[in-house]
Amino acid sequence: MASTSNDRRGWILGGDAQCEDPGALPRRTWRLVLMGAPGAGKGTQAKLLQSTLGACPLSTGDLFRACACAMDDPAQCACLSNTMFEAIEKMRRGELVNDEIVCQLVSERAGCLQCAHGFILDGFPRTVHQARVLDDILKDRDVALDGVVDLVVNRDEVIRRLSGRRICSQCGASFHVEFSPPKTKDVCDNCQGELIQRQDDQPESVAVRLEAYEESVEPLRNFYRETNRLVEVDAAAAPGEVFLRVMDKILGRVPEMAS
Ligand code: AP5
Repeated sequence: MASTSNDRRGWILGGDAQCEDPGALPRRTWRLVLMGAPGAGKGTQAKLLQSTLGACPLSTGDLFRACACAMDDPAQCACLSNTMFEAIEKMRRGELVNDEIVCQLVSERAGCLQCAHGFILDGFPRTVHQARVLDDILKDRDVALDGVVDLVVNRDEVIRRLSGRRICSQCGASFHVEFSPPKTKDVCDNCQGELIQRQDDQPESVAVRLEAYEESVEPLRNFYRETNRLVEVDAAAAPGEVFLRVMDKILGRVPEMAS
């Protein structure tokens, strides 16, 4: 089992911030992208993959949520640009944030993509433009993706997953009222924080998110299909089973692992 202690400070804070305890280097450096509808299970699978592969889950949604928290704190709010305010408002409505700002944030964190621990990008790229920018960043650093895992789940199932999701207001841990309930209702198992519903998990925002996803996903799939990097996984199963399916497919792509 690989180390899972990395606090991802480098990704969340950007700039000169360093991860506090990146742990021992994994035996192999994995570089993966997870794509899939809102609620398809990207975050859930990123954590499972991290515990086995040692690669660091890097979510652009987490970046925007961290900025949204800063917006609610008067001491930090002054540091946010108008562009970031607009981006956070878009996220809250369920719309995609503009390519320009997403790509700028990721480019500023390019060091995380070069890290020897590897990465599991969760929710980036979401458009072909973002995918091309990612390719340029990686090419400049002479690193390549091992695969782009597309978690395929139907619309009814993602609505079920999103409407039941609850997150900890303190540590961000994710639960589901039906599929992975906390031991005590509305209380986080890890830190006893209060469990809340994400603002963009309200039905109006979910509808906007699904529409944005459905508009952008096919060109992105085609981009990765044409460059032989797309790995499609049927994600309509329990998280552990989906994880086994993902592992099976990605290990099969890497010659030294398949033998
Ligand atoms: P982001 O945070 O990336 O949200 P998302 O893509 O909508 O995905 P979610 O985090 O909602 O779901 P998930 O697939 O991670 O599912 P999870 O594992 O939590 O982005 C938020 C917003 O930021 C975007 O809407 C946009 O505004 C902006 N943004 C971010 N990146 C951007 C970009 N690149 N470009 C433009 N804008 C960007 O699972 C969901 C629930 O289901 C949980 O409760 C979980 O317990 C449960 N569950 C998971 N797997 C299973 C399973 N197999 N069976 C049963 N239940 C399961």
